[in-house]
Amino acid sequence: MIKIGRVTVSLEMREVYLDDRLVQVGSRAFDILELLIQARGKTVTKDEILRRVWPNSVVEENNIHVQLSALRRILGADKQAIRTISGRGYRLAIPTEGNEPAALAGAVQGGQAGAGRVIGLPVCRAPLNGRDGAMAEITRALNGTPIVTLLGPGGIGKTQLGIAVARSIAALSDSEVCFITLAAVENAQRVVSMIAEALGVGRADGDVPLQSLVAAVQGRKLLVVLDNCEHVIESAATVCELLVQASADLRILATSREPLRTRDEKFYWVAPLDTPGAEAGSEAILDCSSVRMFLAQMRALNAGVDTDPGSLDMVATICRRLDGLPLALELAAARAAVFGIRKTVSELDDRFQFLTGGRRTAPPRQQTLEATLDWSYQLLSATERIVLHRLGILPARFSLDAACAVAACQRLSPAEVTEAIVGLASKCIVMTTFDSRAKEYFLLESTREYALRKLYESDEADDVLTRNASYLARSYEQPYERGFRPATLSSSLAAQSVAAR
Ligand SMILES: Nc1ncnc2c1ncn2[C@@H]1O[C@H](COP(=O)(O)OP(=O)(O)OP(=O)(O)O)[C@@H](O)[C@H]1O
Ligand SMILES: [Mg+2]
Repeated sequence: MIKIGRVTVSLEMREVYLDDRLVQVGSRAFDILELLIQARGKTVTKDEILRRVWPNSVVEENNIHVQLSALRRILGADKQAIRTISGRGYRLAIPTEGNEPAALAGAVQGGQAGAGRVIGLPVCRAPLNGRDGAMAEITRALNGTPIVTLLGPGGIGKTQLGIAVARSIAALSDSEVCFITLAAVENAQRVVSMIAEALGVGRADGDVPLQSLVAAVQGRKLLVVLDNCEHVIESAATVCELLVQASADLRILATSREPLRTRDEKFYWVAPLDTPGAEAGSEAILDCSSVRMFLAQMRALNAGVDTDPGSLDMVATICRRLDGLPLALELAAARAAVFGIRKTVSELDDRFQFLTGGRRTAPPRQQTLEATLDWSYQLLSATERIVLHRLGILPARFSLDAACAVAACQRLSPAEVTEAIVGLASKCIVMTTFDSRAKEYFLLESTREYALRKLYESDEADDVLTRNASYLARSYEQPYERGFRPATLSSSLAAQSVAAR
């Protein structure tokens, strides 16, 4: 996607969006825009435009002016991005920063834009919200590192981001781009054959020797997008490392809820969409990408939302309490389109019952909010599961000390709890952050609700509550030693009362 002020252009879809609204652009005007974008800031002469846009007819130069006026009208306040170079032609003046294809184009010098083969890559239906910076950063990372892994919890948008980056690389370089999803692969053995089939060296249901795969990538300038690696992580890691060591021209963009942990790998943590703070006013609310996404989803379902302060506050609450997670917002918007936003807000405490109506065509793990958490949960070890349940009782942010105090018991030492937390963090279940003094841990609100449900389904809730109560009592006695802050107590008690309901 190319950004020109408020306008976003998808060359591959031949679509132009103003903010997140699709706008009509005539095919000649689009051809000119495409030429200007592909020239990457260089002047495109009038002759060149006439030759490319009206190849089989002789037309007046005036036709170019008509098309350019239409483009400038769409660009509105940013119309000066199309510069007239007196007596010669036109050029597009847009910053490279944030325009990932332009950034990439610099790194694939000599390549003919869009000349490479594209295999299995889904189309981008609409521009992604709030991901311009991410796209530029990931593209840059791919220029310098053979394997880049997009990491994050389920539904945060790893796949969509991977597709968008790959699309822009396909459009503006001569690299082949091959998209392979491993989501449906149940058997790790099939990772090699899936990749082989996509690259045209075997069948997905047959046995393909790794050597054939290595031979198939040699000499090919190729970007492989390997989507949803987490459940076959060992095999995916082995194959990726082997392939990039065999071919200097191969790049792999993996998406996973857990790092591959290979040599030559860079991680990119996909962040939630930004959400409004509790005190945000209408303007600040509308400025958040999660809100823009939620509203766009509602509009796509032909459901309007009033933009009075009260309604916007409710939308802000939905976005914040769903952690800015695109999948959850998509599910919530579908519900809000039917039941309204007031009802949606009131059902957030029962989110797992309420957020269930996913797209029929979405993969099963994305049909409900609970299913997306189940997918991660079934990949945890037994100890990680137990620790996760117990962490659900803690306040929004907690220290390792607090985690060990509630999760360790006679059968589970603090060292084992710490190890499990490391595992949960690498699987994007536990999040980490630094406050001014120490590392803090937190669960997204939906993960915390999920953990609490699991805790109350088990028979150990009372024990965990008791351990938490004594930890809090000790913290009161030794506030400084334990880095205690009063907020910890109240939010923890609130969590307990939520859990006890
Ligand atoms: N930036 C975005 N703007 C708008 N919609 C988005 C954005 N990111 C993701 N979505 C939507 O959210 C849903 C989940 O996105 P996606 O499948 O990319 O998540 P994921 O992180 O790959 O999840 P999983 O771990 O289950 O594979 C999709 O339906 C997608 O269309
Ligand atoms: Mg995915």
